[in-house]
Amino acid sequence: MRLCKYRSQVFLQKIYNVVSLTFILYHFWLYLSPTNPQNSPSTHPKFPRNHPPFIPNFYIITPTYERWTQKPDLTRIAHSFFLSALVHNFKFNWIIVEDSKFTQPSKLLKNFKAEWDQFILKHSPNQLPLIKIELLTASTDDRIKLGKEDPNWLWPRGVNQRNKALNFIYNKIDLVETSLIYFADDDNTYDTNLFVNFWKFGQMNFEFPHDPKVAITPTGIVGGLKWEGPNCAENFQPFKKFHTAWKPYRPFPIDMASFILKTSQAVKTKPLFSSRTRRGYLESDFLIKYLNVSEYTLNYDQGKDTLNYMPNEEVNDKIYKNEVVGVNCDKILVWHTQTVKPKEKDELRLVEEGKGSREMQ
Ligand code: UGA
Ligand code: MN
Repeated sequence: MRLCKYRSQVFLQKIYNVVSLTFILYHFWLYLSPTNPQNSPSTHPKFPRNHPPFIPNFYIITPTYERWTQKPDLTRIAHSFFLSALVHNFKFNWIIVEDSKFTQPSKLLKNFKAEWDQFILKHSPNQLPLIKIELLTASTDDRIKLGKEDPNWLWPRGVNQRNKALNFIYNKIDLVETSLIYFADDDNTYDTNLFVNFWKFGQMNFEFPHDPKVAITPTGIVGGLKWEGPNCAENFQPFKKFHTAWKPYRPFPIDMASFILKTSQAVKTKPLFSSRTRRGYLESDFLIKYLNVSEYTLNYDQGKDTLNYMPNEEVNDKIYKNEVVGVNCDKILVWHTQTVKPKEKDELRLVEEGKGSREMQ
């Protein structure tokens, strides 16, 4: 009788052990399961495995650096990009590169990304995010980093940051032939419709031998003018002259926000920016490398990373004729706005008194 009771106790104990183990294993499996978004192989935390791959229409490259107006500036352009994606059904791979010596982006940027990832996911159709944000970092060499009181023309800005993003794109194995690349500085103003004609340009088949690889758009409040850019009458057509005042003989007398590139061409020539370009030549020298204009790349000094050419009207005309078209000829859809540096005198005084503003992002 006692033996019988003992046996049934052992039996019950065994059943209990098996049930507990199954329970633990089940939860362990759930934790590691591919359907758990945390375990997605993608760098994007909100892209579960079974979703279709993210194929961007545009790579948008934004250098950024720490200052009081960083978050408001980024917030403003994030709204523009999301609205543009939503209204026109574009997909943006937005690469934000922080000017920083650290490999990890700042807490502010990590929070910014987390908040926007959530917002984008919630408001994108069918829970398929229209924007995928990448956060990268790249530092600016101390020797050419602008000091607080330096005039902004002293050194080029955002060079290493844009190059980091470009290398990220060049190293991607799943590049889409039809995608486009745009440099969007964090303080400019972008209209919701800016990308519409850019996209059309990328999709168009031009008649041989005209094979344009850059589209250029008028840009507001830049170069000392109300606007600067192509003097073009018709969209997607070559044009002969730029409306510009400062150093008009430059091959591309335009701002960073004024042009859009084809990824298919960029991966062929793999152009990068150089901090050593002559003042005002940042955009021109980059585009010369992108288009591989042999007349101008002839004396490229690799060690010094500089292009030594004399701008030549004939060569310029040849480039415009074959490689360039104007877009948004009758409308300004991007402005080179600049955010005023806020006064910090009172904050500094309160900090001295131990009463500085409580940390809130
Ligand atoms: C103008 C052009 O619009 C820029 O595209 C160009 O890089 C710059 O001139 C130049 O000559 O280098 P501007 O408005 O004067 O631009 O320059 P910022 O807007 O102050 O800087 C351009 C980008 O670089 C911004 O996205 C900014 O966040 C970033 N930046 C600026 C850094 O990453 N680090 C810095 O120390 C300063
Ligand atoms: Mn700017």
